[in-house]
Amino acid sequence: MTLSIIVAISANNVIGTYNQLPWHLPADLQYFKSLTVDHPILMGRKTYESIGRPLPKRTNIVITKDQSFHHDGLEIKHSINEAIDFCKAKKYDEVFIIGGDTIYSQTIHLTDKLYITRVDIHIENGTAFFPVIDMNQWKLISSEERKSDEKNHVDMTFEVYEKASIH
Ligand SMILES: NC(=O)c1ccc[n+]([C@@H]2O[C@H](COP(=O)([O-])OP(=O)(O)OC[C@H]3O[C@@H](n4cnc5c(N)ncnc54)[C@H](OP(=O)(O)O)[C@@H]3O)[C@@H](O)[C@H]2O)c1
Repeated sequence: MTLSIIVAISANNVIGTYNQLPWHLPADLQYFKSLTVDHPILMGRKTYESIGRPLPKRTNIVITKDQSFHHDGLEIKHSINEAIDFCKAKKYDEVFIIGGDTIYSQTIHLTDKLYITRVDIHIENGTAFFPVIDMNQWKLISSEERKSDEKNHVDMTFEVYEKASIH
């Protein structure tokens, strides 16, 4: 099973402001959808609440310590290990960890692949951040620039990394 992180990161490492994404970038949402549809997505309870609904055509796995948290259309798990064991038992080929901050920090050491959208913007009021990672441990396998346009107000680059040790 490949465990992948997918994330959009500002130039100063911000991923969220006040439980929302700091930007509206349809091209990145489309990229996210194209990769994650038909795969399970694993997220923290706050990211789930910020999205507000289960995302269609994907098994939505939400991690919370709250034993009373229930919602139709979700697989609720109460620890990272419980969520990963569930995915292994299901024999999924690729699982996408979709955030947020606390979930990325607890899973980065387990992750095989990173899909990072570099968003060419500085966010001053960030409240959620991507963990600082040693990029020497990661090998860039593809990078695709996408210029801003009328619907996407900033330039972005879609990068894909694999853990260097697996080569
Ligand atoms: N830019 C991006 O690509 C991206 C992607 C995703 C999210 N985001 C942003 O990130 C922010 C949210 O991140 P966040 O760090 O505040 O929240 P989060 O990671 O989405 O959720 C945190 C919650 O997850 C649960 N949790 C975390 N670790 C757990 C564990 N080991 N066991 C059981 N439950 C656990 C807890 O829920 P309970 O409190 O219910 O126990 C915790 O409060 C938002 O601003 C969002 O927009 C950005």
